[in-house]
Amino acid sequence: MRTELTFANLSGIKTELLAVLAADIQTGKGPDAKPEPVLLTSDPAVKAAAAGVLSTGEYKAGANETLLLHAPAGLAAKRLLIVGVGKQAKATVHGVRNAAGTAVRFTKPRGIREMAFALPERLDDSALLPPDLAARAAVEGAFVGDFDPDTYRSDRKDQSVQSFTLAGPAKADKKALEAAFAEGVVVGESQNFTRSLVNEPGNKLTPTIMGQRAAAMAAEVGLKAEVYSTEKLHELKMGAFWSVSQGSEEPPALIVLRYEPEGIKDGPVLGLVGKGITFDTGGISIKPSDNMEKMKYDMAGGAAMLGAMRAIALLKPKVRVIGIVCASENMPDGKAQKPGDVQTAMSGKTIEIINTDAEGRLVLADGLAYARQLGATHLIDAATLTGACVVALGMVNAGAFSNDEETYEKFQSALDVSGEKFWRLPLGEEYADMIKSDIGDIKNTGGRYGGAITAAEFLKVFAEETPWIHLDIAGMAWVEDSRPYIAKGPSGIAVRSILEWVRSY
Ligand code: BES
Ligand code: MN
Ligand code: ZN
Repeated sequence: MRTELTFANLSGIKTELLAVLAADIQTGKGPDAKPEPVLLTSDPAVKAAAAGVLSTGEYKAGANETLLLHAPAGLAAKRLLIVGVGKQAKATVHGVRNAAGTAVRFTKPRGIREMAFALPERLDDSALLPPDLAARAAVEGAFVGDFDPDTYRSDRKDQSVQSFTLAGPAKADKKALEAAFAEGVVVGESQNFTRSLVNEPGNKLTPTIMGQRAAAMAAEVGLKAEVYSTEKLHELKMGAFWSVSQGSEEPPALIVLRYEPEGIKDGPVLGLVGKGITFDTGGISIKPSDNMEKMKYDMAGGAAMLGAMRAIALLKPKVRVIGIVCASENMPDGKAQKPGDVQTAMSGKTIEIINTDAEGRLVLADGLAYARQLGATHLIDAATLTGACVVALGMVNAGAFSNDEETYEKFQSALDVSGEKFWRLPLGEEYADMIKSDIGDIKNTGGRYGGAITAAEFLKVFAEETPWIHLDIAGMAWVEDSRPYIAKGPSGIAVRSILEWVRSY
C-alpha cells in the first residue's frame, strides 16, 4: 500500500473516496436526549455535502458505523464515506486507528483502489487527540485494515487498497505530523509482517523456514542475524528447548537478531524472547483433533518479536536490543520426549516433564537463559502459552506478568500508545509451590487451576533476578470473528506494545 500525507483542503482532494469521521454527540438531557452525529471536520463543503443525510437520523455515528455518499456536491472526491467513532469520549487515538481500518476495509471489497482519509480535527475534548499520535494511529489502522490472510486464495489477489492518502488539517504542525506518519507506516507494515508469518501453515513455515524469513527481513532492515540449529542447542546445553525438538523430523531454529545502534556502548540491553512453535500437536500428550489446525499459530509470540525487531531497526531507538526466537515443532514420535522424562535446562535446573503439551515454557526457559547469557539486562517474552489464559481473560485481553514494578510500569505506559489490551495477572510463592517437583527442581505443569500463572512462574525461574515481563497472547493472536477494522485471522498483537516499551528506554 502506497501512502501519502497531504495538507490540502478536503473539498479539493481528487480521490475515488474521501473518508471523514463523525462522533455521536448527545443533545438534550434525560428523556429528550438523542444522538446527533457531528462531523469531525471544519471543512464547510464537506459539512454541507453531508448535512442532508445526517439530519435524517438514520445514521448514528456509532463506533465503526459507515455511511457512503456518491457524487457529494461541492467535493472533488467521487465518494464521501462517513465513519463513526461513537460517543465523543470514544474519539481517542485508538478510535481513530479503528476508524481508519474500517474505512480501508469498507473500500477494499468494492474494487476501489485509492482513497483519502481525513484526520479528525480537535474536538472540545482535545487532550484525547494529540494530532501526531492520531496521524500515526490512522496509518497503522489503514495497514491493519488492508491485510487479509488470503495468501493461499487464488480468487482474492486484486483486492488491496493500493494508495492511501492521509489528509492533515492545514493548521497542523506539519513536521510533527510527517514524522508520526512515517512511524505509522513502519509500525503498520511491521505488524502485517508478523501477521503474514502467523498465517503460514505448519507445512509452509517450518522452524528452518521461519529462520530464513527472519534472516531475509534482518538483511532488508539492517539487523545482524544468526540462525542456529540442533548442534548449537547441544553446544549451549539447551536441554529444555531440545526436549521439544527431539520428537520432530524438522530441525529446530534458534534465531538471534541484534540491534546495536552506533555509539551506544552502555545502558540497558533489552532481550526479546518469542515462542516459535511452528506447529503444536501436543507431542505424546497429544491434543484432541478438534481445532488442532489452529496450532499453526503457536509461533505468534516469535513472529511478534520479529515484527518488533523490524520496526526497531527502522525507527532506531537509542538502546541495544537482542531478539531471540525459539522455533520448533512439537510432535509425537519414537524419539519424542515422554511424560516423566527429566530434562536439564541450559541454566542447569532439572525439569520433570508432566505433560509434553506444555512445551512453550520449555523452549522459552532456554531462550530466556540465552538472552541473559548474551547480556540482556531486561527481558520480555511473548507466547501463545496457555489455554488457561484464554479461560481467564477471554479473547478481550492478553495476559501480562512481571517480576519488577518499574519495568512493568514502562510497559503499562506503552499500552497507552499501542492501544493493545493486556491485563496484569499475579505471581506469588503459593503459585510457585504448585510447580515444585518430587523428582527434579521443577515440573512443567502445575495442575488445572491457575494454569496461566503457574506457566508464568515456570518462566520466572529462568528469568532469575533479571527484570522480566511475560505476555501470554494465546487468546489474542488469532481474531476469531472479523471486525469492521480487522480481518478474521492473525492479529499481530504485541508488536506495537513491545516496540513502544523498547522505545521507552
Ligand atoms: N499452544 C498451547 C496453548 C494455546 C491454547 C495456544 C489455545 C492458543 C490457543 C500450549 O502449548 C499448550 O498446549 N498449553 C497447555 C498447557 C497444559 C498442558 C498445562 C494448555 O493450555 O492446555
Ligand atoms: Mn502445547
Ligand atoms: Zn504450544
